[in-house]
Amino acid sequence: MSKMDSKMQKISMSLIYRGKEIFKPMNTGWIDEHVACIREWVANIFFYTKNGTTIMIDAGYNYERLREKMEWLKIDPSEIRHILITHQDTDHIGAVERDSDGLFKQAKLYIGEIENRYMTGEVKRKVMFRTMNLSKVISDNERILLKDGQIFTIGDIKIEAILVPGHTWGHMVYLIDDEYVFTGDTIWFGADGGYSFINALAEDNELSIKSLEMLEKNLRRREKDFKVITGHTGWSDDLDFVFAHRTEVCNSFHNRTPHDPTAPYDGYDEKDDTREKARGSLLPKAYALPNVTGRKGRNG
Ligand SMILES: [Fe+2]
Repeated sequence: MSKMDSKMQKISMSLIYRGKEIFKPMNTGWIDEHVACIREWVANIFFYTKNGTTIMIDAGYNYERLREKMEWLKIDPSEIRHILITHQDTDHIGAVERDSDGLFKQAKLYIGEIENRYMTGEVKRKVMFRTMNLSKVISDNERILLKDGQIFTIGDIKIEAILVPGHTWGHMVYLIDDEYVFTGDTIWFGADGGYSFINALAEDNELSIKSLEMLEKNLRRREKDFKVITGHTGWSDDLDFVFAHRTEVCNSFHNRTPHDPTAPYDGYDEKDDTREKARGSLLPKAYALPNVTGRKGRNG
């Protein structure tokens, strides 16, 4: 099922989103000493490593080059025993669906208890302004169900689950070691900062905006520095950039304003993602482009 969905997305979404500057995935590589990233067409999945334990954040598409790209990063799939799932869409859970290559059969999935209702069939996942149902995801991996605000540890890694409904009803953001914020499909970075994620893919865009407001308050009251890492548009350590347009939704049907010359013409074209680059310099962060007006945005 997910194999077919993944292939369909590669074909149809590549055509639909060409030149739209909607998907701006990072190439495969490292953000810093703890966080590695793999590119799967337009999506990114992540690995967080600390004191000999590596966990995975999201499981991406049902993607045939995952093993190969993990080797670029020297991460062994058999060492992955814990996978945090932000939400159960097929570009975030594909590698643990029943018809996947089974690289992570031994891994436990951590998923919100509300999000899990899609997987039990209690709730249907709807997109295109709730006019289209997506097919049910089937995974045989053990699942640990999480509540909003739940804090737990895996090895020496501290994880806090923060419920951010909107894109899906049970979407979780994961705050790791009080510093790394994995946002899944909560925030979309444009050339002038962050917006609520793509309108046509949300269950409820107004709820998404409310969740973003709560997330911003939650992070700012901690008075710390964060690395905010998105599922499709890169990362930033500048909260002003991250939340610059949090009351606005990314409209996937309009041409982008301001134009972002760094966005790939076709996010599904992976020619730019190579082993040599993955082992080279660290992945650059997203930033507000010069001459772009937004609520504050720092260059560099
Ligand atoms: Fe996604």
